[in-house]
Amino acid sequence: METLMRNAFQFLGKNRVVNGWARKYGLKFGASRFVAGESLDKAIGAVHKLNKEGKLATLDHLGEFVGSEEEAILSAQMCIQTLQAIAKSGVDSNLSLKMTSLGLDISKDLCMRNMRSILDCARTHGNFVRIDMEDFSHCQISLDIFHELRKDYDNVGLVIQAYLYRSEEDIRNLSEIGANLRLVKGAYKESPKVAFPEKKQVDDNFRNIIKQHLMNGHYSAIASHDPTVIADMKSFIKGKGITGDRYEFQMLYGISEDLQKQLVQEGYRVRIYVPYGMDWFGYFMRRLAERPANVWFVLKNLFK
Ligand code: FDA
Repeated sequence: METLMRNAFQFLGKNRVVNGWARKYGLKFGASRFVAGESLDKAIGAVHKLNKEGKLATLDHLGEFVGSEEEAILSAQMCIQTLQAIAKSGVDSNLSLKMTSLGLDISKDLCMRNMRSILDCARTHGNFVRIDMEDFSHCQISLDIFHELRKDYDNVGLVIQAYLYRSEEDIRNLSEIGANLRLVKGAYKESPKVAFPEKKQVDDNFRNIIKQHLMNGHYSAIASHDPTVIADMKSFIKGKGITGDRYEFQMLYGISEDLQKQLVQEGYRVRIYVPYGMDWFGYFMRRLAERPANVWFVLKNLFK
């Protein structure tokens, strides 16, 4: 039953028609628990609040399905506006983005041009941009683009997913260019040909790749709500004497807020991923797929 629901959420999240419908009707079904709002103003307001609670942020203007060059350019402009709004408001946040929203599926050149204009803007404001990792079909091209961008920019980072068999080797290669990485378990539905099918295998590899990157000496964003993994990483970091400027913990907006608070109180650097915008549906479906128990939460909100 749980697998069925997971698959249904993953399917809906990728469906362009349903995504278009959701865009038209606005944040529904309790999605505002996970999405800071549809406007940039709302998102900046949410970051202000997080900063007051001692948390840093990374803002993400939601968007994954772009079908034309115009849409991709518009998406890049939204990223630039987000960086400008961060600078103007003085909130402590960097930017996360998905390259498919910048035209990756249309052409690599278009995506590269958009990435360069966003990174130029970030550099002007002394800010940093993280490239989210999407499904496996975009993995190699994302790595290629990242390697190319790193030649000209030191304010860009990438995400690596523990569920992929290839990740250990990718981290080894990325270590050569001193990459700043966010390490996650992985949120997409992947074939067992490319990804560990069992949760325990993913969790084990997650611990492995975090340790691997920390020991390589490059900046590691440990992105998880898993209390066991977080506790293990805290003792690993302490045991190895790794200093606080080499890593941070990251969590998603609206998830495990008690754990977020606890880490802040313990003095750890904590960054919250804050998504906002009209294209909230795909993101929302991935959060439900991660935890089908959330479906009760949706049902409760259905008639609100
Ligand atoms: P796990 O799934 O084992 O969950 C541990 C516990 O956390 C659960 O028992 C529950 O208490 C809580 N929890 C987790 N998910 C929840 C949810 N949706 N609702 C309510 N509670 C929940 N993935 C990707 O493929 N590419 C990317 O670029 C990113 N980026 C990213 C940024 C940040 C800051 C985070 C925290 C995560 C991502 N992810 C991601 C998502 C990631 O791959 C993964 O799917 C989720 O973080 C869930 O995995 P956990 O490590 O939290 O563990």
